[in-house]
Amino acid sequence: MDNSDLCFHFITPAHSLYAKECQLRWERLRRPLGYPPGAEKFDFEDDAVHLVATDCDDECVGCVLFIRQGERRGRLFQMAVSEHVEGHGLGRALVRTLEEHLRAQGIEHVFLHARCHVQGFYERLGYTPCSDVYEEVGIPHISMERRLRPEST
Ligand SMILES: CC(C)(COP(=O)(O)OP(=O)(O)OC[C@H]1O[C@@H](n2cnc3c(N)ncnc32)[C@H](O)[C@@H]1OP(=O)(O)O)[C@@H](O)C(=O)NCCC(=O)NCCS
Repeated sequence: MDNSDLCFHFITPAHSLYAKECQLRWERLRRPLGYPPGAEKFDFEDDAVHLVATDCDDECVGCVLFIRQGERRGRLFQMAVSEHVEGHGLGRALVRTLEEHLRAQGIEHVFLHARCHVQGFYERLGYTPCSDVYEEVGIPHISMERRLRPEST
């Protein structure tokens, strides 16, 4: 896959792409754990930043969300790409696009709850572990963080 064929959109839950975003989130993050459709949604969907990537058929092939928690910090969550585009740099492109947007909003500190089996993905993007391992949605997680600086890439 050539990432130059993809489009990135910041959307709200009122956008026509939101249903496709939720479908991807459920398929990649909740269905494998045995959760029903709808379990991918949080109470604060309306307050979150939603970044989605679409392909040339307008299908949602990736997403990542962010919720501000405090003046200059917040949590990245619901990071997912479609199985058929994995391993081609879309996850990295989504995180970098989100970080650029957050920097412009004055966010300096991003943290997240990483599934332990994808800890290496976030490490490749400059995130460092900052907790012991704990359980969330029935699987091991570890908290990770990154300081955003104007010059960081
Ligand atoms: C995790 C996920 C978003 C990665 O997306 P991706 O598009 O395949 O990742 P990229 O191709 O951009 O990879 C970026 C780098 O991370 C590395 N990487 C990707 N997945 C990795 C993993 N599971 N473990 C270790 N390293 C990984 C890549 O090799 C690449 O390294 P490089 O810097 O040497 O090139 C994707 O696998 C996914 O959606 N998984 C299912 C949902 C999920 O688990 N989400 C995370 C919840 S915390």
